Amino acid sequence: MTVTDIAAALPKAELHVHLEGTLEPEDLMRLAARNGVALPWYTADEVRAAYSYSGLAEFLQLYYLGCTVLHTRADFHELTAAYLRRAAAQGVRRAEMFVSPQPFLGRVPVDDVLGGVLDAVADARTDLGVDGAVLVIAQRHRTQAEALELLDVMAPWRESLLGVGLGGAEVGNPPSKFARFFADARGRGYRLACHAGEEGPADYVREALDAGVERIDHGYTAAADPALVARLRDEGVPLTMCPLSNLRLRVVDTLDGYPVMALHEAGVVATVNSDDPPYFGGYVADNYAALGLSTRQLAALARNSFTASFAPADDVAAGIAAVDAFEASQPNDAEAP
Ligand code: ADE
Ligand code: ZN
Repeated sequence: MTVTDIAAALPKAELHVHLEGTLEPEDLMRLAARNGVALPWYTADEVRAAYSYSGLAEFLQLYYLGCTVLHTRADFHELTAAYLRRAAAQGVRRAEMFVSPQPFLGRVPVDDVLGGVLDAVADARTDLGVDGAVLVIAQRHRTQAEALELLDVMAPWRESLLGVGLGGAEVGNPPSKFARFFADARGRGYRLACHAGEEGPADYVREALDAGVERIDHGYTAAADPALVARLRDEGVPLTMCPLSNLRLRVVDTLDGYPVMALHEAGVVATVNSDDPPYFGGYVADNYAALGLSTRQLAALARNSFTASFAPADDVAAGIAAVDAFEASQPNDAEAP
């Protein structure tokens, strides 16, 4: 088996993926035509060629442009179903996915956004055997008041939604700006995730921990801060890292020495995820395969993905047992090149 085959066959959970960021260029063009949206491209290849960024801000411009082609409940259903099919083919058993209704408010009824996503999640549970769950993201360039309003807007779906997160333009919009949002969400029973330490400093990760966040999305800049690494380890707060995203957004110059394995060895529950797969050139298994790690190391990261999930304890144990069984089926010396 090649490392690509191993990475795809390895049972895993994906914990950091933005559904709107899973729109493949072909689907982007198809939905734009169907919904009468004018885009600056004529072909899917032109879209792919445009996916080169100087950093997070430039990526977000294209990402929000991509969001404008999503208009109907069927669009959100198709988007989610397509991601879950690809995820299943890459060994994903549990997917905790982000969706961000704020850019659609006033344009697409929230009932269609969340209803379309949740219907596809239910279908995939039966048809693909993927255990899906949804976290709603508030955009951090907006105000905390808007994030609090979002909690009211999504209240009818409380029992169907797993949690909340914070995404978008990080620098200048620290987690402390959303302390009440996190406290209110926790009071309503949501699990708490927060993007921090992608382009922002390690102190943003500290602020997220201080706000009671249970899982940090990215957390890359924490790796160079030993006291913070120790805190993440001691408090058992996982990181959902996204290597190809970090590479394409120029957070790192190379994946040589990417810190996910070092963080794992330091006792942090570090995981590998895709973020926005077509925008960054790979789904979750492609991210595992890009790290140049051995089968034993990849299996350790896959076990972490179940440990870091918000799934019930029995499901976490079953996921870890599936990784153990896969690892045991592989030759001892199966090393990545
Ligand atoms: N929304 C979608 N992808 C994101 C990322 N990498 N960082 C912050 N917000 C995002
Ligand atoms: Zn993200």
